[in-house]
This record gives sequence, structure tokens and C-alpha cells, in this order.
Amino acid sequence: MLVITICVGSSCSIRGSDDFAQTLQQCIVDEGLEGRVDMVGAFCMETCSKGVSVKVDERTFSGLCPEDARDFFYKEILPYV
Ligand code: FES
Repeated sequence: MLVITICVGSSCSIRGSDDFAQTLQQCIVDEGLEGRVDMVGAFCMETCSKGVSVKVDERTFSGLCPEDARDFFYKEILPYV
């Protein structure tokens, strides 16, 4: 099970972590990956300089925006499932 952790702390929320998560969820459904990818929320990961922070298992990404979500899914999530 791949675990995606999305920061829902105030800085990331303001920068669109909710929309980011919704797009990822839609991608998971589109690719039929329900049950193979788990998505959870987390409070501040202390990487909130410029955008949304996300972890994919132990890999940490920051500075993301909601418009990145679909590309992020296909580059950083799907190949690792
Ligand atoms: S609020 Fe998301 S990393 Fe700080």
C-alpha cells in the first residue's frame, strides 16, 4: 500500500492542499487504484515555504500547487504503485 500524506496545516490549506488532494483522489479513481493507495492528512510538515507539502511513502515534496496535482500523480505516484 502506497501512502500519500497531504499537509492540511494552515499554510498548505491556504495554498490549496484541499484541491490538490481532490485531484489526486480523482486520479486514483481514474486509474482504478482504490485499495492500493491510501491518502491521509497531516499537520504541518515544516516544509511550508512556497506551497503545498506532500509525502509519498518516505519521499517528501514541497512547493506544490493544485494545478500540479495531475502531473504529480503521473510522475511521482503511479510509477511507484
Ligand atoms: S502547513 Fe504544510 S508544511 Fe507547514
